[in-house]
Amino acid sequence: MGISKSISKSMKSSSWIRAMFEEGEKLKKQYGPENILDFTLGNPITEPPREFKEELAKIIASDTKGMHRYMTNSGYEFVRQEIADYCKEKTKLPFSKDNIIMTVGAAGGLNVVFKALLDPGNEVIVPNPYFVEFMFYIGNHGGVMKLVDTKNDFHLDIGKIEKAINKKTKAVLINSPNNPTGVVYNEEELKELASVLRKKRENGQRIFLIADEAYKKLIYNGTVLPDVFNIYEDTIVVTCHSKDLGLAGERIGYIAASPAIQNINPLMDAMIFSNRILGFINAPALMQRIVGKFQNTSIDIMEYQVRRDAIYDILVESGFEVIKPLGAFYIFPKSPMPDDIQFVRELQKHHILGVPGIGFGRSGYFRLAYCVEMDVIERSRKYFNEFAK
Ligand SMILES: Cc1ncc(COP(=O)(O)O)c(C=O)c1O
Repeated sequence: MGISKSISKSMKSSSWIRAMFEEGEKLKKQYGPENILDFTLGNPITEPPREFKEELAKIIASDTKGMHRYMTNSGYEFVRQEIADYCKEKTKLPFSKDNIIMTVGAAGGLNVVFKALLDPGNEVIVPNPYFVEFMFYIGNHGGVMKLVDTKNDFHLDIGKIEKAINKKTKAVLINSPNNPTGVVYNEEELKELASVLRKKRENGQRIFLIADEAYKKLIYNGTVLPDVFNIYEDTIVVTCHSKDLGLAGERIGYIAASPAIQNINPLMDAMIFSNRILGFINAPALMQRIVGKFQNTSIDIMEYQVRRDAIYDILVESGFEVIKPLGAFYIFPKSPMPDDIQFVRELQKHHILGVPGIGFGRSGYFRLAYCVEMDVIERSRKYFNEFAK
């Protein structure tokens, strides 16, 4: 009906998460929402910290002129400086406001990076399983996503990544803590990846490492997220406050490009221009004014850690094979049936909603998003236990 063939194709192949969510909505109508245990969506349940709300109230009450006007496309200078100070302190690298661009969430940030980097046919390597939107963000800008399977423990298979690199490779996109597996890549594997990319550079090919750190503060048991900026020079981090401050609906994030990137100015200019012409113009003004001050703050991650522990215990006691996530709020157990779609449909019969692994590029698994009320997790115990029997 007049819509583009490519969008129509993308919509069809689009999203098991949405499909399962929508099937779940039907079940909720049929049985009552309280009787359906919905683990499909990664929508953070925690409220933003109290200090955030106080700051928001203060800013709204202020009569500073021009607060709601356009600004430079990269965002307010003072906010970028606050974020640069945070990055500088964390990495000990000479970040300045010119390394930072405020974006419309991590999704907006990734689109800006790809718009700036990709020519048609350029390839972006993505470890599989992966967050399915990556395929669209890369495709939006003429790029080609090249999936490379991770190892059985969902860590990077550096050998396979090296083999997948060719002349068309423009970037490797990693996401840690990972959606859907909860895995956090360690320093050693990132260093190995860096040395592979560096070797290519010596041969005249520049490959960027794009690190999606949307879940960087949702990390458990004192695990430390390795500092990718100190591991590889051509690194661009894209992050947001959707999860760590519970602001998913406010659409605020940023791009931080490493000060070690040679000849960085054209790259920054290209990303700022992309932010403009993608129609974002700039990130939401009100949110920018607040988040700069909250770089060292996050929601109480214990709220997610106790949920992680609870769902992990339930799955293990029910006999599922599962890797304990170290971050984010997803768990990715092995499906006890070879067909993960069939298994998720079985779970639905027990009123549990999850997403088949195929929705993340890896059949034979399923994803549960445990950013739900504790009571939902507790009530799932009975069904998982029964199911196991
Ligand atoms: C891995 C990953 N990257 C990016 C995003 C998008 O984040 P935002 O809402 O800040 O655009 C999500 C959201 O779920 C995600 O899981």
